[in-house]
Amino acid sequence: MNFHDSERLAGLLEAEGYIRADSDASADLVVINTCSVREKAEEKLYTRLGEIRQAGGDSRRTPVVAVAGCVAQQEGDRLLRRQAPIDVVVGTQSLKRLPALVDEALALQRTRVDVNPYEDVSFPLGVVRHSDPIRAWVTIIEGCNEFCAFCVVPYTRGHERMRPVCDLLAEVEQAAATGHVEIQLLGQIVNHYQAPDDPSCDFAGLLERVSAVPGIARIRFASPHPRHVTDRLIGAIRDLPAVCKHLHLPVQSGSNRMLAAMRRRHTREDYLSLVERLRAAVPSIALSTDIIVGFPGETDADFEHTLDLVRRAEYQSMYSFKYSPRPNTLAGKRLPDDVTEAEKTRRIQALQALQRDIQMASFRRAVGTVETVLVDSLSRRRSWELAGRTSGNAVVNLPGPADWLGRFVPVRITEVMPNSLRGEAAGPAVDRRRPDDTVAGKFPTAGHAHAGGCHAD
Ligand code: 5AD
Ligand code: SF4
Repeated sequence: MNFHDSERLAGLLEAEGYIRADSDASADLVVINTCSVREKAEEKLYTRLGEIRQAGGDSRRTPVVAVAGCVAQQEGDRLLRRQAPIDVVVGTQSLKRLPALVDEALALQRTRVDVNPYEDVSFPLGVVRHSDPIRAWVTIIEGCNEFCAFCVVPYTRGHERMRPVCDLLAEVEQAAATGHVEIQLLGQIVNHYQAPDDPSCDFAGLLERVSAVPGIARIRFASPHPRHVTDRLIGAIRDLPAVCKHLHLPVQSGSNRMLAAMRRRHTREDYLSLVERLRAAVPSIALSTDIIVGFPGETDADFEHTLDLVRRAEYQSMYSFKYSPRPNTLAGKRLPDDVTEAEKTRRIQALQALQRDIQMASFRRAVGTVETVLVDSLSRRRSWELAGRTSGNAVVNLPGPADWLGRFVPVRITEVMPNSLRGEAAGPAVDRRRPDDTVAGKFPTAGHAHAGGCHAD
């Protein structure tokens, strides 16, 4: 979501006549879009500010610096106390005010701060600067009302607000018209969507409408909440060919005691029975998840429950995190961070080792099968080497010509790599973009996207 907010900020600035600079040193304006979901993400802001100050160096030429996003929202004018070179602080809910705030800061020679958390979610349509020619991100919900005990999001993004379906479809249409074949719908609880302008359009209904837009051949979404996975949603994943057979389903812990302390409002039994229902309806579905280790009070026995759930759910990939206390949250205020750093490290390593084995076993089962791969990048090192993703979101590397970028290729899987698969074309590449588009030459190189697999923080 932050990545997409950066695309929106870039689009807003371009609409005002700004052009992209090559480096900090040549930029007149630097916008740092921040994340505060974990402590490490937040620290990056201060590292980045230091780099910008250094890049100015002896020339004494300092760009205007704007800090946007969740740390801006959370800290507001407290950010200015650190004597950092900041001219504008713009919160998650005031992004569209960025160009005006920069103008004011320049005109008044004063720092401008806008962290109004109550602004509506309407956003100027058509200003996004899409940074990827194949997939386009579309925010459908802002904010969250769940208040999980560890999570800062309800405080940084505010309460849940849904965007009108007519705006969303206009964005999807525009993305399709510029050659994008894949849409990624974004929201903190994306499957809680209910169109404010059409009572008949829930999240499953939205998937139907997006898949009816000509030129859209793949739809992904992040992140659904296990509590809101309805039969209608499972039916949409099963029946709509454009909807990818992949579900990112954050579980956070396999221990009911921890889930209750985290205020997740689902149990391990609820979760595992949902996994069963999903696999019964869509046998090929690939699942991924988020897990936190070392939440306050987590014992060895709790952690064993997490390992056990991971074995049962058989995720294709996993994002795992060591707990870090966050400002304003229930856990941050009330629960001592009592699992030692060494123990958090031991647990995350054990979890990732287990997940690696599960992923390797699932990858090995794929060898010999034919998967449809949407080619989305070129290798930086080898000109004939391409990469793409299966519907289940596995990364596949294959040899092929550069003009396969953006096309769907049937690929026979031949080999398992540490975090991806290798294969070779087993049929012709199919172009499913709208016919009149010219998007050649705008493709990213491999390494731009995340590979699947374990991610540590
Ligand atoms: N500490 C560690 N991990 C966290 N996450 C959210 N808040 C915290 C925290 N305080 C993780 C959750 C969430 C993902 C986006 O980040 O697993 O799903
Ligand atoms: Fe945070 Fe997700 Fe919980 Fe909302 S549902 S509070 S975004 S972890």
